[in-house]
Amino acid sequence: MTVRRSKKRRIALSALAASALVAGSIAAATASSAGAEENPGDVDAAQGKVDNPYEGAQVYVNPQWAEQAAAEPGGEAIADQPTGVWMDSTPTVHGDGDPGSTGGWGLQEHLDEAVAQGADLIQVVIYNLPGRDCAALASNGQLGPDEIDAYKTEYIDEIVSIMSDPAYADLRIVNVIEIDSLPNLVTNVSPRETATEKCDEMLANGNYQDGISYAAAELGALPNTYNYIDAGHHGWIGWGDENPEYDNFHASAEMFGSLIGMNGMTADDIHGFISNTANYSVLEEPHWAVDENVGGTPLNQNPDVKWVDWNDFNNEKDFTQALREELIANGFNENIGMLIDTSRNGWGGDYRPSGPSSSTDPATFVDESRIDQRIQKGNWCNQAGAGLGERPQASPEAWIDAYVWIKPPGESDGASEEIPNDEGKGFDEMCDPDYQGNPRNGNNPSGARDNMPLSGHWSSEQFAELLANAYPPL
Ligand code: BGC
Repeated sequence: MTVRRSKKRRIALSALAASALVAGSIAAATASSAGAEENPGDVDAAQGKVDNPYEGAQVYVNPQWAEQAAAEPGGEAIADQPTGVWMDSTPTVHGDGDPGSTGGWGLQEHLDEAVAQGADLIQVVIYNLPGRDCAALASNGQLGPDEIDAYKTEYIDEIVSIMSDPAYADLRIVNVIEIDSLPNLVTNVSPRETATEKCDEMLANGNYQDGISYAAAELGALPNTYNYIDAGHHGWIGWGDENPEYDNFHASAEMFGSLIGMNGMTADDIHGFISNTANYSVLEEPHWAVDENVGGTPLNQNPDVKWVDWNDFNNEKDFTQALREELIANGFNENIGMLIDTSRNGWGGDYRPSGPSSSTDPATFVDESRIDQRIQKGNWCNQAGAGLGERPQASPEAWIDAYVWIKPPGESDGASEEIPNDEGKGFDEMCDPDYQGNPRNGNNPSGARDNMPLSGHWSSEQFAELLANAYPPL
């Protein structure tokens, strides 16, 4: 099974890339053809890509995840769901990664298995930037801040080479590109109090933008790939403000747009964006609106309502709809689609409110009405009490290509305490249940579960809780 890429592949790549480039320029000329948005299943003949790759597609089920899920009590109920395949290091691409993290298969084995399954689509996570995860430590990777050349030639080029094998020509390959990276360059840099030294360094050396535009351009040149760039979530970049010091929303869309033209990346290379990857933000808050007037003031203009804290949104649906428009205004194509990771945003435990609170105190009203049970929206690590969210599905809303499970349920976000490892993973206090926080979560307790393994490693306890608190229920 561990067949390595051969010279042949490289040749196949240059042939495919050349024809794709020609196709790409035709697509550019016709890109703004109206009506594509209303016809998600339509094939764009010029580009050879469909508008919504998920429409009508059987999505690859990763057997390595499925096996782990099925072995847990009650796990059979979801073991046939498609999840993301994370290429979280250079060795992982070739099947030499840490088996605890991805189960040990390389990209080629997953693609072969997808063909064997008769799948139409596979979801691959591109996640290996130099200086990865600059505002946190739990998912620091193997490449140092300056190792951009290694990222391009030893990681991206190798992935492109494998994906371009004609054996996979009939597979739609969705690439989820670099979680948590670009928004960090907006919100976690100086002079903000949320700044980290490493995010300042990554903004200064430009290697996130260089790496992501390179990845998108190279992957986008293949005729069967669909690139979705990670766009954080509403509880991270949902603040649009006239004061640039507090504006994350417009500034992030501008940051994404600034990549167009870098390394030959065009708007056509970007099929859409994904929100909430590996996070816990809800799809919707059914019992209250973020600008609802409670006690004489809109909730998002009331300094006492800490949960909202002036955010323009309280959910991922509204956020992605608005962000999509803002992305188009910043140069992306009119028919881009959004994905939302719903693997762990169900919040369906006994605590789930069945209607709005009757309190007239605005802060109490929100805390008693909200579905999302986190202590604060900046909390991202192994959130205690979380449940599975909506099952993966295509076209749930006009602007959403699919609800997806990119973070495989049961895989940790980070270790609860320091665990020595050779995966480059650090210990982030946000994963320690006793930690009392930092400016990035408003100095609140972390809300994390205890006894959790390294990020990407399996936790039976977390998996069981996600099943028990699933919403919709299983
Ligand atoms: C980890 C990866 C892992 C992924 C999926 C990330 O947080 O850093 O190693 O593959 O989660 O579980």
